[in-house]
Amino acid sequence: MAAKARSTYISPLFLLIFLSTLPSQPLSWTESEYQKWLSWNMEHHEKMKITTTLEAKLNSKRSNASRISSARDPKLVKAEEGIVRVTVNPDGSGNFTTIKAALDSFPRNNSRRVVVEIKPGIYREKILIPQTKPFVTLLGDPNNPPTITGNDTASVAGDDGTPLKTFHSATVAVNADYFIAANIRFENTAPEAAIGTGGGQAVALRISGDKAAFYNCSFYGTQDTLYDHKGLHYFNNCFIQGSVDFIFGYGRSLYEGCVLNSVANKVASVTAQKGTNGSLWSGFSFTKSRVTGSGRVYLGRAWGDFSRVVFSYTFMDALVLPQGWNDWGQPLRQSSVFYGEYKCSGPGANSTGRVPWARLLSYKEAKPFMGTYYVDGNKWLPLPQSVV
Ligand SMILES: *[C@@H]1O[C@H](CO)[C@@H](O)[C@H](O)[C@H]1NC(C)=O
Ligand SMILES: *[C@@H]1O[C@H](CO)[C@@H](O)[C@H](O)[C@H]1NC(C)=O
Ligand SMILES: *[C@@H]1O[C@H](CO)[C@@H](O)[C@H](O)[C@H]1NC(C)=O
Ligand SMILES: *[C@@H]1O[C@H](CO)[C@@H](O)[C@H](O)[C@H]1NC(C)=O
Ligand SMILES: *[C@@H]1O[C@H](CO)[C@@H](O)[C@H](O)[C@H]1NC(C)=O
Ligand SMILES: *[C@@H]1O[C@H](CO)[C@@H](O)[C@H](O)[C@H]1NC(C)=O
Ligand SMILES: *[C@@H]1O[C@H](CO)[C@@H](O)[C@H](O)[C@H]1NC(C)=O
Repeated sequence: MAAKARSTYISPLFLLIFLSTLPSQPLSWTESEYQKWLSWNMEHHEKMKITTTLEAKLNSKRSNASRISSARDPKLVKAEEGIVRVTVNPDGSGNFTTIKAALDSFPRNNSRRVVVEIKPGIYREKILIPQTKPFVTLLGDPNNPPTITGNDTASVAGDDGTPLKTFHSATVAVNADYFIAANIRFENTAPEAAIGTGGGQAVALRISGDKAAFYNCSFYGTQDTLYDHKGLHYFNNCFIQGSVDFIFGYGRSLYEGCVLNSVANKVASVTAQKGTNGSLWSGFSFTKSRVTGSGRVYLGRAWGDFSRVVFSYTFMDALVLPQGWNDWGQPLRQSSVFYGEYKCSGPGANSTGRVPWARLLSYKEAKPFMGTYYVDGNKWLPLPQSVV
């Protein structure tokens, strides 16, 4: 899987340089198709609300446990019936001294949740959680979160001598489903590449697995910090720092109560969401969050014709450019991307200078993006006992 993704992955920088030289393809996304997509979102939301209410009614007579579990993914319910716990401590007092050793210790095709409790410290490890190891929880101490650090970049040579590319630069890469991280600091300390030089992409965390949740985590990097590659993802109370395109990918993700902190020197973009086709699924939604930091930033730029990003109830500091959004040098994308804002505040949220193709959403339009239902959360978001 990784090898396939590796060969098909094109870095944002590559796109930036070369896309403007490609002939433009006419897009078929018209205003009526846009409306269709929007109403799909609203109907999907309504349907889920009805299902959830029905389930609640049906289950009101049952015990609390079965009430919760009936809506939930059965594989997940089963995995959480027998949680395995191990500890990692570099001082030798835990079950393992490295995170990698802990992950290697449990069987492939694991069907139980494994909570890997990581004691405070700096872990210089490059971690890949393969598809065959689902249900992993990395749990740190909220008062002293462990740091998992690395400094690979897209241009660093891998074991086979060829450049890692953005995909394999990640300090921590997760290909497995049902991943949880709480109170962990993910880091890529590679210095920012000089402007005009390629290969500086340096991912702190790549999440390619489905149904992943992050609580109280922080992500530190410069270019391409958080690769929200694909799948349903939920980020709560997280801190994400970077410069160019520091949250990017094809995921369908909800970011709630997060800080997006720019360390850009000049002009950069907070997100590069990669909606590449008419599939209705992918998009990033940020709610009750903050956009702060240095430089000047776009909220998003269109890495793909169908890039989709929504900000709601979010404080935007003065670093947000009045235009708000960027078409990545592809004017045709202006009519196919979906960039929405709802009830944001702060100097950067002033809509006066916004590009005309940005959408100021109504409550009805914004609603489907503003809750955990956006990522089908009722089916899989962790119960408290799988986090602590
Ligand atoms: C069931 O849930 C309710 C409300 O959350 C709680 O007050 C009650 O104690 C729970 N009962 C059991 C048996 O866990
Ligand atoms: C981890 O360490 C604890 C305490 O020493 C021990 O009880 C437990 O069996 C160990 N677990 C594993 C999987 O080694
Ligand atoms: C894991 O599951 C896959 C698919 O279900 C199967 O092909 C593979 O043989 C399994 N591996 C092990 C080690 O059980
Ligand atoms: C990356 O980190 C390693 C280990 O600390 C160090 O030896 C190396 O010089 C660093 N590379 C860069 C480009 O900073
Ligand atoms: C997140 O951090 C807060 C304190 O800031 C703590 O109360 C909470 O338990 C943490 N959440 C998890 C899942 O550890
Ligand atoms: C849309 O693109 C994604 C990611 O490249 C791909 O996985 C998916 O199959 C595509 N869907 C359609 C309908 O082409
Ligand atoms: C928004 O920006 C415009 C143009 O810069 C300015 O005239 C207006 O006062 C601003 N509105 C608010 C509420 O700050």
